[in-house]
Amino acid sequence: MKRMMILLCILAALLLTGCAPTPAADVETYEDMIVVGFSQVGAESDWRNANTRSMQQALSEANGYRLIIDDAQQKQERQITAIRNFIHQGVDYIVLAPTTEKGWDTVLAEAKAAGVPVIIVDRMIEVEDDSLFTCWIGSDFRKEGDNAVRWMSRHFGDEPIRIVHLQGNIGSSAQLGRTQGLDAGLDEHPAWKLVYRNTGDFTQAKGQELVEALLARKIGFDVIYSENDNMAYGAIDALKNAGLVPGRDVTIISFDASRAALEMVMQGEISYDVECNPLHGPRVQAIIEKLEAGGKPPKLTYVEESAFDAATITREIMDGRGY
Ligand code: AHR
Repeated sequence: MKRMMILLCILAALLLTGCAPTPAADVETYEDMIVVGFSQVGAESDWRNANTRSMQQALSEANGYRLIIDDAQQKQERQITAIRNFIHQGVDYIVLAPTTEKGWDTVLAEAKAAGVPVIIVDRMIEVEDDSLFTCWIGSDFRKEGDNAVRWMSRHFGDEPIRIVHLQGNIGSSAQLGRTQGLDAGLDEHPAWKLVYRNTGDFTQAKGQELVEALLARKIGFDVIYSENDNMAYGAIDALKNAGLVPGRDVTIISFDASRAALEMVMQGEISYDVECNPLHGPRVQAIIEKLEAGGKPPKLTYVEESAFDAATITREIMDGRGY
């Protein structure tokens, strides 16, 4: 029935656009596929694009999937609309990479009532009733923050340092966990001073803009704690444009550990980069296969993650990086 509704939607779209109907063989192939609606946060970072690619590669037609991706442009209300559209279209599964933790109860109750399983990836959600989602797979963002602060403690000890904190999207698990990690570090080290904190929305442009504004205001700082690599790239550009040397004049801590950032770790521009793994496509594929076979995937799965500084990064690690 669900697949019939999707077929009708496609036929209606073809009629509306004046295209010739797809040959019967294609429609039959499509009917055999598992239809997945993926509500993606946006395209704000290299991490995010790698995450989208990973989903496309795993949930491909060759693997028996029809993947419908909706890019929410970092807006939760767009994700809520996308989920309602997926329910209406009668998809077999919804995959949600949530912008923020809160605000999902109503729409996920609608998905549950419609019998559509919801798999959450990457960031976590906070709902009253955890039967509203089938399972979650993603990162332990608080652990990532603690990891970064442990490196800072080893490196700076109780030396007085002035920290600039570039936050991700406020209310997202990635921002909350990494910020909690830094806050705990600030409590433990009274000599560490937070001189500036603002959101750079996880984007390179905003990271650059914030650091340029700080430099223009002549605010002194020793460390930039950037909650993702793209904001760190922007910050590095701002520092270089001002004649400063990242890694020597300012220590940069970052998150994601994408390939380009690891090159910067190797060059000494980024001092420590905590990995956040975006390659969730095969993991989601395995979850769906388990569900299709009548199995029960674990409710919560944290992916293994590492971290790199100049002492631990190697060419081999970089060459093996899938993002
Ligand atoms: O939720 C994961 C975070 O979102 C990544 O650190 C960041 O780059 C992305 O935009």
